[in-house]
Amino acid sequence: MEKKTFYITTPIYYPSDNLHIGHAYSTVAADCIARFKRLNGYDVFYLTGTDEHGQKIERIARSRGLEPKEHVDKIVENIKNLWKVMLISNDDFIRTTEPRHEKVVQELFQKVYDKGDIYVSQYEGWYCTPCETFFTERQLIDGKCPDCGREVELLKEESYFFRMSKYADRLLEHIYANPDFIQPESRRNEVINFIKSGLEDLCVSRTTFSWGIPVPFNDKHVIYVWFDALINYLSGIGYGSEPEKFNKYWPADVHLMAKDILRFHAIIWPIMLMAMDLPLPKKVFAHGWIMLEGGKMSKSKGNVVDPLILVEKYGVDAVRYYLLKELNFGQDGVYSEEMMVNRINSDLANDLGNLISRTTAMIDKYFGGRVPDMGEKAPIDEELMAVFKETYAEATAKIEKLDFASYLLAVMRLVGRANKYIDETEPWILGKDESKKGRLASVLYNLIEVIRAVVIMLSPAMPTLPQRVNEQIQLWTDADKLNWEEAGIFGLTKPGTIVKKGSALFPRIDVKKLKEEEKVQEVGKTEVKEEKMEEKDYITIDDFAKIDLRVAEVIACEKMEKADKLLVLKVKVGEEERTVVSGIAQYYKPEELIGKKVILVYNLKPAKLRGVLSEGMILAASVKEDNILEVLTVDKVPSGTKIS
Ligand code: ME8
Repeated sequence: MEKKTFYITTPIYYPSDNLHIGHAYSTVAADCIARFKRLNGYDVFYLTGTDEHGQKIERIARSRGLEPKEHVDKIVENIKNLWKVMLISNDDFIRTTEPRHEKVVQELFQKVYDKGDIYVSQYEGWYCTPCETFFTERQLIDGKCPDCGREVELLKEESYFFRMSKYADRLLEHIYANPDFIQPESRRNEVINFIKSGLEDLCVSRTTFSWGIPVPFNDKHVIYVWFDALINYLSGIGYGSEPEKFNKYWPADVHLMAKDILRFHAIIWPIMLMAMDLPLPKKVFAHGWIMLEGGKMSKSKGNVVDPLILVEKYGVDAVRYYLLKELNFGQDGVYSEEMMVNRINSDLANDLGNLISRTTAMIDKYFGGRVPDMGEKAPIDEELMAVFKETYAEATAKIEKLDFASYLLAVMRLVGRANKYIDETEPWILGKDESKKGRLASVLYNLIEVIRAVVIMLSPAMPTLPQRVNEQIQLWTDADKLNWEEAGIFGLTKPGTIVKKGSALFPRIDVKKLKEEEKVQEVGKTEVKEEKMEEKDYITIDDFAKIDLRVAEVIACEKMEKADKLLVLKVKVGEEERTVVSGIAQYYKPEELIGKKVILVYNLKPAKLRGVLSEGMILAASVKEDNILEVLTVDKVPSGTKIS
């Protein structure tokens, strides 16, 4: 029989900068579903990637002195590494700068144009570059972007337009006929209202910058970055080149994202697909935002939390668990490190960790490290069994609905019930009485079965858990090949299974110590702030006047022999010639500097560097972490000009 297939996607993120825990949330959530479906025997395709074109990326790259491709290549490496560290099991990673994607975008643009759904006209309106979104005057709020509140730019250019309006009714019909198409429900209503308020045709090309895929029949235009990006969901599974693979996985089962980009996925994307004569995805799911106490996390606000640091501190399973548990179905959630630590301590160190360590310790002590066979039963076992069965049904239903918090809550309820069962059955008392050994055996067997089911059910969220538990309780011959259904069946563990008590799976995090560390950092921060305000840190205009800065023209430049970092420059300051040694050889080739007019600290005391007398210093700005350095230059003013 053919395997059932399941195709899930995350948004393809902008590699404008390294990603934060908001991006990690979507990617972990999609990973959790992908793993869950694989445990259920599905042939899963999980796609993530990066959205690399557009004005925003181009501007950021240039501001860092890089070509757009150079800039994205570096960030994409970091993103791929992040997903590796977070144990993301994606089947492919699509980059919109790859030829396999660009080709498909051009083909489909042409197809829609040939059909008459793309036409040329004049665009006049507003554009928000950080959101890469067009707005009409009416949509702006106080003249700013209605989505992010930032400045917008007025655009007037010849553009190609996509006939969105033509498909509005068909899309509404589709949404009504498929209640699950847009989830959660509240978001679905928002989309319906938006469509009903009237759809305008969408501008799908730009002429004022070049970092994009050219319109196939007019290379003065590049294709609008969203039209380009959404097509990744097709190019990533081989549209046009691998028909078998494409037909196997399309239409997608779930496009997952946060609410900020739901409209692109629930309106523009389905209409693009209609115009391309392709089936629509089965579900578009928009989760909430992870907020910081001061508002939404955003790269431009600089208030981002780096998931790599959290994983290093608390372990990948714990961070993944926390993220999935903290956002309630479709709603926003607030992140704080303290809340995260409390959650890890209470759910994982206390509840789950204790259940496992108490059970293994008792099997070790009373049964020589072997799971005992069932012995005498008691009515209380039935209660535990009922929760065992309910949990399986509940966890399955919730994870299917992408309600991660409720799925984890259900599993943790079983953990809590099992801990209570230990307190109620008091195995340490049973252990003292040889005649109660049969009863003790049943209690411990039941606990092992709960642990087995819990670990299977938690494994989509916490991928290293089965392996780590297996080192203490040899439940599976291969802990990488589990089966979800087995979490619902009681009695699969063979008596005699080896149990070895090991170290704590989730060591308790010392909150007091953490707070003290934070305090030290906080104190450090305040000191810096206060120091900044002290009189001694200001200089007067007279102090500044002591520095003689002059424009100097580089007339010759060469590498210093046997010194990797040094360049020897000959500069002209007016009529005067000077030699300057500068440690910038890693950033500039000698010939790149010749002819540039740089800024020289003219009255710096001359100093000998590797035997060469350096008469002054040239100014440069650098960002060490990004390995960027730029020599300050001027253009029009002549060499020798004094800078004040
Ligand atoms: O929008 N909370 O890329 P992007 C939860 N390239 N999720 C968050 C989040 C937060 N605070 N911050 C980001 C783009 N996300 C386009 C997508 S798809 C064809 C093109 C997640 O880098 C969430 O999934 O701005 C959100 O929708 C996405 O990152 C935005 O990523």
